[in-house]
Amino acid sequence: MLFTQLIKANLKTKNFGRFIEYFQKLDSTNQEAINIINEYKIQSGSIIITDFQYDGKGRNKKKWYSSSGKSITFSIIIKPDFHLKKLNLLSLVVGIAIVNAIKKLNINATLKWPNDIIVNDKKCGGILIESKISKDKIKYLIIGIGINVNENLNEFDSSLESIATSLYIEKGSPIQRELIVAYILNELEKLIKKLNYENSKNVVNEWKNLCCHINQKVKFSYNKKTEIGIFMGINDNGEAIIKLNKNDIILNHTQIFDIMMHD
Ligand code: BTN
Repeated sequence: MLFTQLIKANLKTKNFGRFIEYFQKLDSTNQEAINIINEYKIQSGSIIITDFQYDGKGRNKKKWYSSSGKSITFSIIIKPDFHLKKLNLLSLVVGIAIVNAIKKLNINATLKWPNDIIVNDKKCGGILIESKISKDKIKYLIIGIGINVNENLNEFDSSLESIATSLYIEKGSPIQRELIVAYILNELEKLIKKLNYENSKNVVNEWKNLCCHINQKVKFSYNKKTEIGIFMGINDNGEAIIKLNKNDIILNHTQIFDIMMHD
């Protein structure tokens, strides 16, 4: 059970999380957000949250698994009022907001490009941003956030055991999910406002400070080949700069499928 009142009691936001639609179970909060948008006029900052997401969508058409009553799975619906060329940066800002929220619990979370949430070299959360486009304009963005919170190691699919973790595993004590949701919403509303009027350099620098693989060897697929390069950082548009065979190549998140640390 998730208590929406507890989320609201910890909000410091103007719009984010002020309208919450809670479902005990749901196929996918992103999908529900898309369905709702098609039917109603939605207030920007509304969230859809569930205690058990049983058919979650991950990036690159993968599935996102979550455990009933233990994970955080929610989507924030926003009407973007920033310039659309900042869309890449928005995805980075969501990662920064989540890491800042998790750090409030004294857990040292970091980011893997473009926006995997990493603790102790293992993934504990991810972000899937989808959009509703009408007449060539983005009407709504759906920011889907999944975080492993109170799972034990044996609750992960066996294929994930060596690469996934939860906040509980890392901290050693159970964590109130409602608090993290409120912390994320507080951070995100603040950072998205900044995205409107601040130089993108601040976001880029903040992201780089939280990234766990700057100047490290990374393995990734590019042009249908697996390559090994050095991850140099990101540019002002939020694209990855990777040194490959002495040349810097610039890649956006549609071009790199998975970055893996490489010894
Ligand atoms: C990833 O593959 O790293 C992104 C995972 C995103 C999962 C979240 S959980 C809430 C929202 N609803 C979905 O169906 N997916 C996203």
